[in-house]
Amino acid sequence: MLPVPGDISDEASVRGMVETVIGGFGRVDVLVNNAGVSHIVPAEETTLADWRRVLEVNLTGSFLMSREFGKEMLRAGSGSIVNISSVAGLLGIADRAAYNASKHGLIGLTRTLAAEWGGRGVRVNAVCPGWVKTEMDLEDQAGGDYTDTDIEGRTPMARFARPEDIAQAVAFLAAPELSGYVNGHTLSVDGGWYGDGSWESLRRGKQGL
Ligand SMILES: NC(=O)c1ccc[n+]([C@@H]2O[C@H](COP(=O)([O-])OP(=O)(O)OC[C@H]3O[C@@H](n4cnc5c(N)ncnc54)[C@H](O)[C@@H]3O)[C@@H](O)[C@H]2O)c1
Repeated sequence: MLPVPGDISDEASVRGMVETVIGGFGRVDVLVNNAGVSHIVPAEETTLADWRRVLEVNLTGSFLMSREFGKEMLRAGSGSIVNISSVAGLLGIADRAAYNASKHGLIGLTRTLAAEWGGRGVRVNAVCPGWVKTEMDLEDQAGGDYTDTDIEGRTPMARFARPEDIAQAVAFLAAPELSGYVNGHTLSVDGGWYGDGSWESLRRGKQGL
């Protein structure tokens, strides 16, 4: 294992990460763009500085990482990039203008890179997790935006995602022997959230909550 700290929104830092990884391993097979920041504020109160910061990390950072690590994959003629988007990359969720725009943009980036690089052996896919109990969730809940009950109530499977739910989807998309013809796909791992158009009482009745 080779830990390589860096700031994905900084071009020089990203180049440094590529140099360290290639110096250490000589090649790169998989890139998972997982780093991200949350931002929960009404749209009309979102400052330009906050908008830029969220887009810089979640979208520009994933672009820079994909561009620089992608060059190495293209040189080798193989590789898999997995972008971690969100339910918020597929649906509007109030008070998250910058975050949602960044996660929608990441799906657009995924599809475009898949179209450009698939013929040269580099697959690019996205995973859209539902809510997971991480630092991000703890901080967002501490801000009073929502509770566990809100998330469980909105999810047909009536629970949060477990980290391994997301990791298994990423491992599938990373492995050419499992997903070698999957390219430009957006895989929801959300307990059914995105597919569910039920009204609240109907959903809760089916959940048995
Ligand atoms: N937790 C959820 O419910 C949830 C749901 C859907 C999608 N996601 C997405 O999953 C990914 C992981 O989220 P998480 O819940 O583990 O969040 P987290 O806040 O627990 O972890 C995010 C990580 O990103 C790193 N990071 C932030 N800015 C960075 C930068 N500029 N350069 C390098 N690293 C940086 C942080 O240091 C941290 O380690 C994010 O892209 C998030 O948007 C999370």
